[in-house]
Amino acid sequence: MHGHLILEWGSLVSQTVPATWLVYCRAGFERDAQAELEHHAEQGGICVKGHTGEGWASVTHINGDTINLLQRDVPFAQLIFARQSLVALPALTLSREDRLSAIAGQVSEAGWNFESIWHETPDTNEGKSLVRLAKALTRPLEIMLKKRGGLRRKAGGRRLHLLWLSGDQVQLGMSFPGNRSELSGGIRRLRFPSRAPSRSTLKLEEAWHEFVPRDEWDACLAEGMQAADLGAAPGGWTWQLVQRGMYVYAIDNGPMDKALMATGQVDHLAADGFVWEPPQRLDWLVCDIVDKPSRVLAMMERWLVRRWCREAIFNLKLPMKQRWQEVQRGLGALEHALKQADVNATVACRHLYHDREEVTVHVRLLDNR
Ligand SMILES: C[S@@+](CC[C@H](N)C(=O)[O-])C[C@H]1O[C@@H](n2cnc3c(N)ncnc32)[C@H](O)[C@@H]1O
Repeated sequence: MHGHLILEWGSLVSQTVPATWLVYCRAGFERDAQAELEHHAEQGGICVKGHTGEGWASVTHINGDTINLLQRDVPFAQLIFARQSLVALPALTLSREDRLSAIAGQVSEAGWNFESIWHETPDTNEGKSLVRLAKALTRPLEIMLKKRGGLRRKAGGRRLHLLWLSGDQVQLGMSFPGNRSELSGGIRRLRFPSRAPSRSTLKLEEAWHEFVPRDEWDACLAEGMQAADLGAAPGGWTWQLVQRGMYVYAIDNGPMDKALMATGQVDHLAADGFVWEPPQRLDWLVCDIVDKPSRVLAMMERWLVRRWCREAIFNLKLPMKQRWQEVQRGLGALEHALKQADVNATVACRHLYHDREEVTVHVRLLDNR
């Protein structure tokens, strides 16, 4: 019976209609990414069926219609667990003797054209083992798709993505400029700064790349600014703030890195981050305390409603099962509280590449009262 249902369902999906919204995510977070997509589909009044594999999740239009409108209506920046957002065709099973013809055939039949082709693999060990194969096929596929008119010099900035699921399985997706990650696999690889006191330092650096547009760095992450870092020890996040020339209240009972303290830009206070209050309004608040999301959010709400900082970046640790639901509930409550208090702010959240069982939230106050 079960097999029959699958067969029935499969028969609705055409090989050449992009009925699937496909996102990449960290392995282990597929259910969260799927729940997120299903939430948006429900909001858009579209019936979908969800699928997951290691490192990716998707929803497919139950009627087999194109999913383009739904994918377009949800800005990539609004997605939390998705590293990339694509409209996709059904996965292809390839013959090992001739992988390219089936790919080119599906592209032509779908009528797709694009300016570039990216070969990608899930962010898993199996995915890594497919990188060589994908590399070997890159040039021959480009030549073939150029000849057939799929790959063009001008095609509205569209990009063809090939997600290699195994040596003989690939799923073709399309991304659109302004609504996608511009990073391969949606992954921002950063070099670990050797003098930083902890690897956590990369989480704050990545958060800035993610949430603060590059042309605003000089104004928003400026020398002489004042910041607080709650749960600062040993100092990876404080180190980033100090690198930008800021003065930092580092709140933690634990010891701070000696070289960082020697900069003279850090005031280390052994206090409880949940009750400490700043002596004056600060430019930045950052917080990496491991505690319940509800407790961290209540503390952030207090800071933001009282306008103790202009901008904040904090982590919500998510050891629970239903992470998407937890984040959705928590952020909804924060946004509601800010509105009630007449605080005009933007709130963004993302599961960063350097995050593990946590997501990173960014809040910026928009008025300067
Ligand atoms: C994940 S670590 C922070 C790492 C830091 N961001 C870095 O880059 O080096 C969490 C820190 O929060 C501190 N912490 C836990 N509860 C705290 C509280 N109530 N107030 C202040 N710090 C707290 C712990 O002592 C620990 O050093």
